This record gives sequence, structure tokens and C-alpha cells, in this order.
Amino acid sequence: MDTIAGHLYDYPKYYDLIFGSDWAAECHFLQSCFKKYSKRPVKRLFEPACGTGRLVVQFAKSGYEIAGNDLNEKAIAYCNARLKRAGLPESTFVGDMADFTVKKKVDAVFNMINTFRHLPTEKTAEAHFRCVADSLNKGGLFFLGLHLTPKTPPKCTSESWSATRGNLSVVSNLWSIGTDLKKREERIGVTYDVYTPTKQFRITDETVFRTYNVEQMFSLIASEPRLRVVEMYDFRYDINWPIDLTNDTEDIVYVLQRV
Ligand SMILES: C[S@@+](CC[C@H](N)C(=O)[O-])C[C@H]1O[C@@H](n2cnc3c(N)ncnc32)[C@H](O)[C@@H]1O
Repeated sequence: MDTIAGHLYDYPKYYDLIFGSDWAAECHFLQSCFKKYSKRPVKRLFEPACGTGRLVVQFAKSGYEIAGNDLNEKAIAYCNARLKRAGLPESTFVGDMADFTVKKKVDAVFNMINTFRHLPTEKTAEAHFRCVADSLNKGGLFFLGLHLTPKTPPKCTSESWSATRGNLSVVSNLWSIGTDLKKREERIGVTYDVYTPTKQFRITDETVFRTYNVEQMFSLIASEPRLRVVEMYDFRYDINWPIDLTNDTEDIVYVLQRV
């Protein structure tokens, strides 16, 4: 099979085929949280690093006023085209999750599935928190979903997904190449194996996630006093099942509130 060294997010069609259908649990969970934690009706949303619009499009279809940004212009073009096809405003734009403003303050911001860990330094992570706090109405909610890194990271973990639409099939593999806790970097390998009736090829990429343990995350949260943790969940996305944090906690969704 031919192999191309490419960038993971430069192929929105393949990304969206694999991950685009996986939105329901997060959307339902976030809406349950809006009801549980917000004193006012949640109407306006912002998703930093929204990618191909996996969640943006669903919230827009459900009647929320939603905007988002992403560094990758191909992802944004794809997302806006999806919104347009659905007769919705093309409300996403190219931008940095560590440097953004919103036109009108929003009721909730969400940043799920480790996306935040793409920010490479403490400075950019703090800037993200500052932008979120600046964007939220008082009492507004911020949801941050990520994997915390355990003290002894497992040597090799991997996950695979596959999906087919019409004549296009994509198999994606993602694995942890190694974690350097001193540098706070986890290197991730990714492949897309693409199958069409006329060609087959593999796209390969590596990306780096910044690592956070429980304390590092709390010290980051403390850097933005306008955001307070109100509850924590995990990737079960079960509103009836908030979690207690332990040193072994890995997948986590922080619910923060703008004071
Ligand atoms: C795993 S995807 C998630 C996309 C979307 N949030 C979702 O839940 O489906 C991560 C996205 O983060 C974007 N990204 C990475 N660093 C970024 C940054 N500094 N600012 C904005 N977007 C960024 C990538 O281009 C990519 O689209």
C-alpha cells in the first residue's frame, strides 16, 4: 500500500467519516449539564478547536446559536460547508484556541476529547483559560474533556476505528509512541488507511499531546480565578455519575463555572 506522510487534520473527509457520527453521548451529556448547572437558559455556545464540526453541526441543528474556531482552514471550510448544506449560518472561522474573542458573550464553551492537549505549553494553556473566561457570561459553563496521564504511563496503548460511506472506507489507528513526563509530552502515531474502488493508500502522521496529571491540571485551573470547578465526570458522559478524583483518574470532563 502506498504511504503518504500527511497531517492528521488536513483530511477532513476522512476524519469526519471516522469520528463525525460519534456525537450523541457528548451532546446529550452537555445538554443535561446545561440544565443541571446553569441558572439561566443556555442558548449561545462556542467551541474552540471545533474541527470538522462533529458537535457544532449537531448543536446548530438543535437550535443553539453556536460558533467555533480551528487552526486548520481545511477543517473550517469543511465545517462551514456542512452548516451551509443544513441551511445554518456558516459560523466557524480559522483561529487559535489560545487567542480568540467572541462577538457576543456565550453561555457555555466546550473543549472535548483531548483537543486542549494540543496546546504545547503552560503559557498557551493559561491563555486558553483566559480566553474562555473572557468569552463567558457570569455563571456560564466551561466543559473540558481530556485524558490525565498516570504517574506510570502504560508502555503502548492503541485504538482503532473503521467506517464506510458509499465507496469510501477508512480504517484509522492511533497509538501512543511514548511519554516524556519531564517534557510533558506524549507522542501519538496515527494512520488512515483509505480504500476506494480504484486506489488504496495509507496516510501517516505523528502528533504531540501535552501531559497533565491531577495536580498539574489543578494548578492550571487555579491560574484563572474566574473559572471554578463545580463537578467532574468521565467519558461515560453519564449525568447521574459524577466522579471523585483519585490519583488513578484518567479520562475526565471538568465542569467549570464562570464566577
Ligand atoms: C481531535 S480534533 C477535535 C475536533 C473537535 N473539537 C471534535 O471534538 O470533534 C482536534 C482539533 O484541534 C485543532 N487544533 C489544534 N491546535 C489548535 C489550536 N491551537 N487552536 C485551534 N485549533 C487547534 C486541530 O486542527 C483539530 O481540528
